[in-house]
Amino acid sequence: MNILLLGSGGREHALGWKLAQSPLCDKLWAAPGNPGIAQLAECTSLDATDHDAVIAFAKDNAIGLVVIGPEAPLVDGLADSLRAAGIDTFGPSKQAAQLEGSKGFTKELCQRAGIPTARYERCTSLEAAWGALKRFKPPFVLKADGLAAGKGVVIAETYEQAQEALGEMFDGRFGSAGSEVVIEQFLTGEEASFFALTDGTAIVPIGTAQDHKRVGEGDTGPNTGGMGAYSPAPVLTDALQAQVMREIVEPTVRTMAAEGTPYSGVLYAGLMLTKDGPQLIEYNARFGDPECQVLMMRLESDLVELMQACAQGRLGEVAAPKLSDDFALTVVMAAEGYPDTPKKGGTIDLGDAEANGAKVFHAGTKLEGETLTANGGRVLNVTARGASATEAQTKAYAAVDAIDFADGFCRRDIGQREVRRERG
Ligand code: AMP
Ligand code: GLY
Repeated sequence: MNILLLGSGGREHALGWKLAQSPLCDKLWAAPGNPGIAQLAECTSLDATDHDAVIAFAKDNAIGLVVIGPEAPLVDGLADSLRAAGIDTFGPSKQAAQLEGSKGFTKELCQRAGIPTARYERCTSLEAAWGALKRFKPPFVLKADGLAAGKGVVIAETYEQAQEALGEMFDGRFGSAGSEVVIEQFLTGEEASFFALTDGTAIVPIGTAQDHKRVGEGDTGPNTGGMGAYSPAPVLTDALQAQVMREIVEPTVRTMAAEGTPYSGVLYAGLMLTKDGPQLIEYNARFGDPECQVLMMRLESDLVELMQACAQGRLGEVAAPKLSDDFALTVVMAAEGYPDTPKKGGTIDLGDAEANGAKVFHAGTKLEGETLTANGGRVLNVTARGASATEAQTKAYAAVDAIDFADGFCRRDIGQREVRRERG
């Protein structure tokens, strides 16, 4: 079967790496891809917002499965267009992708389905939002409703800061994402991510992970798309995972189906493990980036079989995903200036970073002649496996140290929370 993978990040490199390993994959195409993906797939430039062009490409190249990596084309309804043209697609419909595309939609679904999540109010004007603030206590959690590339959440310590942030949100700081704001109760606990595949009916877990969202060591500085991750996240014990399935993921998938907007694809639940149990912080309608890289590093099952089963409503007929007991850990190497103004063009020499079983997934890279250069904020995802988080961390940083990327930086404390726990 020919497969078309859409996207260009480290997440898509990791997905492509697993897809290409499958005996079910004859030819892998990627659009637009990146230099890392180009080693496994034929890259082509396709505009994912031009649905007719994607459909025409898929028909011309006998594509049997389209895999949509990022959220924007999902929220834009690309999966609907492809399915309407008879092309099997991994990824939710436009309606179902509202679980990521609208925080207000998700909060209301949680309310209807009795899913544990922070108390909230939806506000469509600055006046209403200022009024609602009075019904919450600091710190205030303020969320722009729509897609904002992981940057639409403000945690304000004081009432004045919250008022100011709301002013900016309604003033267009997040574009149209800020025309509605959700105010939430602040939750305390440790964060963890839980991933499940579903075809709308059957649901199977595909691993846990912890991300490192802040740019600086010790979780300081501005939020980013993610500076590193590891999997599994042992804080999500088997008992907690069963509780997450029962109280959060299953009621979500059941309610979406019952309401005529079945969800298929991967459902990524961002959780807060509070003293009262796991609460849903947010859903994403795609794999996390860089969480996907560590999940794919551990996945032993055939990803093509799983994704095709999701796309065709046959997930209940195939074996559930099997992940190795190993830990995987990925360190993001970013370009200087990320997340504000990443410097482009810095040269990269990967050296023998992969010599000891590590894997370097490309994100924002570009080939200029023979030279690999930085072409984005997050540039490389240096990923390794080990029997413990400590071993995976040691191997990942050894690989980082083998790379020459003068204009790059990384956090040196990825996985530190788990490493400390392992030390006891
Ligand atoms: P989100 O984009 O909804 O995942 O939010 C981004 C980050 O803000 C999360 O990863 C949390 O660290 C934090 N956050 C979001 N909602 C809450 C909440 N209700 N209580 C505490 N922290 C939150
Ligand atoms: N790493 C966070 C995300 O993909 O949303």
